[in-house]
Amino acid sequence: MFSFENSIVYHKGEYVNSSDASISIGNTGFLYGLAVFTGMRVFKNPVTEKLYIFRPKDHFNRLKFSCKILRYEAFQKNYSVAQFTEIIKQLVIRNNITSDVYIRATNYSDETKIGPRLVGYKDSLSIHLYPLGDYVPLTGMKCKISSWVRAGDSAIPARAKISGLYVNTAFAKAEAILDGYDEAIFLNNRGHVVEGSAENIFIVRNGQLITPPTGDEILEGITRATIIELAKERGINCVERSISRTELYAADEVFLTGTGAKVAPVTEVDKYVIGSGTVGPISKFLQDSYLSAVRGDSPEYSHWLEEVVVSAK
Ligand SMILES: Cc1ncc(COP(=O)(O)O)c(C=O)c1O
Repeated sequence: MFSFENSIVYHKGEYVNSSDASISIGNTGFLYGLAVFTGMRVFKNPVTEKLYIFRPKDHFNRLKFSCKILRYEAFQKNYSVAQFTEIIKQLVIRNNITSDVYIRATNYSDETKIGPRLVGYKDSLSIHLYPLGDYVPLTGMKCKISSWVRAGDSAIPARAKISGLYVNTAFAKAEAILDGYDEAIFLNNRGHVVEGSAENIFIVRNGQLITPPTGDEILEGITRATIIELAKERGINCVERSISRTELYAADEVFLTGTGAKVAPVTEVDKYVIGSGTVGPISKFLQDSYLSAVRGDSPEYSHWLEEVVVSAK
């Protein structure tokens, strides 16, 4: 069975065993959280057994954008979307992947110098696969509004997927778990509901889908963009605007979205029951639509999928 420990990874331009892919304890990415990343999934269609990478171009573009914000020049200069996608395909093929798998691409500050710097340090790319089932429960989560506030755009920008920001995430997640909840929901410093610990958020009120705007300290989630498009094309009115805490409590439905979380309904927030306390019809419909698209069962969304042809080995 596939495990990270026995896998082949891409590390600084080469395919090596994961045990040989090391960085120095003096590495600036490690010491200062100076890294950006994206998390993708490969989905397997259970009937055709075909393997699909979901939206690799969008993941590449977001990673490149994150590199721009952190001034990582090597990635921006050296990698194209075609090369990036080919590396992922090679990893799927070389690791004999035959089921769903999670892919983590990390581009990091790669010096052994003292001091956090964004200028004049080189950067490197590593990509590895990870077995990952459901990152959070998909049948109705209990969430807690975190006492930890999402870092502002002028502190650590959430729009770039920066490793160091995940300290903020870890504080919120730890608090939620220790208090007996499944997941944390962040407010920003203006009191707006922004996202889960590692997911975007949607609410439904009176049949309308609402999600926070990209100016509200959220990651510009690829699953979020997918859900907005699926909803609009299926006749569900969707608006991007700020959401207040009490509006969240009053929502008819709430769900979180992410590569890890997929589409994860929320049935309770701070012990307020959401809607009827069960998975709502719009959440279920969009969850089903998403799963159908990612597994290649919706031909109209085949442009989101990059098939990995294993015989090309
Ligand atoms: C903070 C944060 N928000 C949102 C998301 C969802 O983004 P995506 O749908 O691109 O996975 C993630 C997932 O990685 C995340 O870490």
